[in-house]
Amino acid sequence: MKNSADSRLLATAALCGSLLCGLATLPTALAGQDAPSGQEAAASESPDPQLLARGKRLYILCQACHATEADPGDKIGPHLAGIVNRPVASAEGSVYSDALRAEDFVWSEKNLDVWLQRPADMVPGTSMSFAGLPGDDLRKALIAYLNTL
Ligand code: HEC
Repeated sequence: MKNSADSRLLATAALCGSLLCGLATLPTALAGQDAPSGQEAAASESPDPQLLARGKRLYILCQACHATEADPGDKIGPHLAGIVNRPVASAEGSVYSDALRAEDFVWSEKNLDVWLQRPADMVPGTSMSFAGLPGDDLRKALIAYLNTL
């Protein structure tokens, strides 16, 4: 019995080469880097460089499927250039699911935050195979970076 528990642990450890495991360790890796500044209100006007750098690093979770230039190249998802405040399912030359095409909204930061938390909850039937990014801080950093595209 002990052995099978051990091998299950090993199997889990073996999976850790995957992206998901990287995701699980990110919050720890990124935690505690924010010096308390008391100037958080100013952050929304000019995003602090640390937040942007963190967001850029997190984009590794997206780059397999999304280009940052207005040319989707051979990526499976639509490009994300100018994504903040872009109308949903509007990138030319991209293939969208019926579910996303039936939507009618703009990708505000708020909507991006809801989407990235769990795409399939916001738009059931979406073809974006991405479970979601738990962690408010992580989504905030990622969206700050998306804002620069
Ligand atoms: C496995 C591939 C894949 C990954 C990983 C992925 N996406 Fe997507 N994404 C897609 C696909 C495919 C669509 C189109 C969904 C649809 O039509 O239902 C999409 C759609 C989107 C849209 C809507 C775009 C539009 O034009 O309306 C946004 C925004 C988006 N993804 C952001 C992200 C971000 C940010 C990440 C990283 C956290 C990410 N995606 C990770 C494949 C992916």
